Amino acid sequence: MKVLLLENIHENAVTTLTQAGFEVEQRAGALDEDELIEALAGVSVLGIRSKTQVTARVMEACPDLLAVGAFCIGTNQIDLSAASEQGVAVFNAPYSNTRSVVELVVAEIISMARRLTVRNDAMHRGVWDKSASGSHEVRGRTLGIVGYGNIGSQLSVLAESLGMKVFFYDVDDKLALGNATRCDSLGELLASVETVTLHVDGRTGNAGIFGAEQFAQMQPRSLFLNLSRGFVVDHHALRDALTSGHLAGAAVDVFPSEPKSNNEPFSSPLQGLDNVILTPHVGGSTQEAQEHIGYYVGGKIVDFLTAGNTSMSVNLPLVVTENHAAAGSARRILHLHHNVPGVLARMNQLLADIDVNIDRQNLATRGELGYVVTDISGEDLDSLTDKLVTLPETIRLRTVDA
Ligand SMILES: NC(=O)c1ccc[n+]([C@@H]2O[C@H](COP(=O)([O-])OP(=O)(O)OC[C@H]3O[C@@H](n4cnc5c(N)ncnc54)[C@H](O)[C@@H]3O)[C@@H](O)[C@H]2O)c1
Repeated sequence: MKVLLLENIHENAVTTLTQAGFEVEQRAGALDEDELIEALAGVSVLGIRSKTQVTARVMEACPDLLAVGAFCIGTNQIDLSAASEQGVAVFNAPYSNTRSVVELVVAEIISMARRLTVRNDAMHRGVWDKSASGSHEVRGRTLGIVGYGNIGSQLSVLAESLGMKVFFYDVDDKLALGNATRCDSLGELLASVETVTLHVDGRTGNAGIFGAEQFAQMQPRSLFLNLSRGFVVDHHALRDALTSGHLAGAAVDVFPSEPKSNNEPFSSPLQGLDNVILTPHVGGSTQEAQEHIGYYVGGKIVDFLTAGNTSMSVNLPLVVTENHAAAGSARRILHLHHNVPGVLARMNQLLADIDVNIDRQNLATRGELGYVVTDISGEDLDSLTDKLVTLPETIRLRTVDA
């Protein structure tokens, strides 16, 4: 099978896919829609980062395409419903940059506690201001983490190792790591800590959850960080809290509206303020994260192509099963279909009609899709797949032989 990797995807992806026996072609840049359609003739897997748009037209024009790997975090550049309609599996790497974000948060908390940006600016202006005023150790200080998921919980561990006292609030019931203290409400957390950092997810209900009311509930002279999503914070209210002196500093990596490319200008009400660190959504942008993304997404694609497993697929139902060859089956049938009643029964009737024995079978559904993985042994297996493809509910049928 052929794999086309665009946009300088990390070498780890090439190694993973090549070692699994795939023919990999790499291109440095992104392609536009027409170029992409032309390049995808005979290609089973497309690998992209954030610049290549995989539209419904691309999916429809490229029937050979089985999977798209987004070697990045987001999948907004891919028309996911078109991918599902065409039976194309989409994979990404939502957690490969967790550690990178956590390390930046730790660096920024220390930077703000020591007023590093202020001291650095003064030095560049020729001002020597040697003083301990306004500088603090973070050891023994309280940290409040809002959103105790992958990033929040890993931050909890690192912050404790620095000697910070960690409190957290999550809408879900999360287990406290180490000595962290769970808060029952956001208000309880805001009243308890000197530094608040947001690590909530991007669900629509989180729009504007942090505004004037929440800043007012924070302790005077506390610090605020947001490296989660731009739309969760009211930046005008944050500016007011900083200019009034209620907050002593802020670090912000994500913005309600961000430039689409490095060529577009950036503007924010937070520009020009003392002890405010602004970064261009680089919390997860490290070489190490790129390395892990290459290996991780490459591995998910190999597992999908060789065994039909859909672990971490963004759009297909989840089926993960043991290797059929190792378990003694001759063939694995991967059947993606419209999720309507009776498909499994009709499929199994076809199997029974030609005396094929089912060794193992797993069905999962997700919205309008059903995915059934069936391991079989027996004679006349080719006639069976010919029949299965004619089931009216079939979206995509693939077989993998032992
Ligand atoms: N700055 C960057 O470059 C960068 C990089 C990676 C991830 N992120 C963002 O960081 C955020 C966290 O990522 P993650 O991988 O830890 O996500 P996650 O899904 O593992 O964790 C999010 C947690 O927030 C909780 N939550 C959601 N809404 C909440 C609310 N209103 N109050 C309290 N808790 C709430 C959820 O229950 C969950 O435990 C995401 O928004 C992600 O997009 C940013």
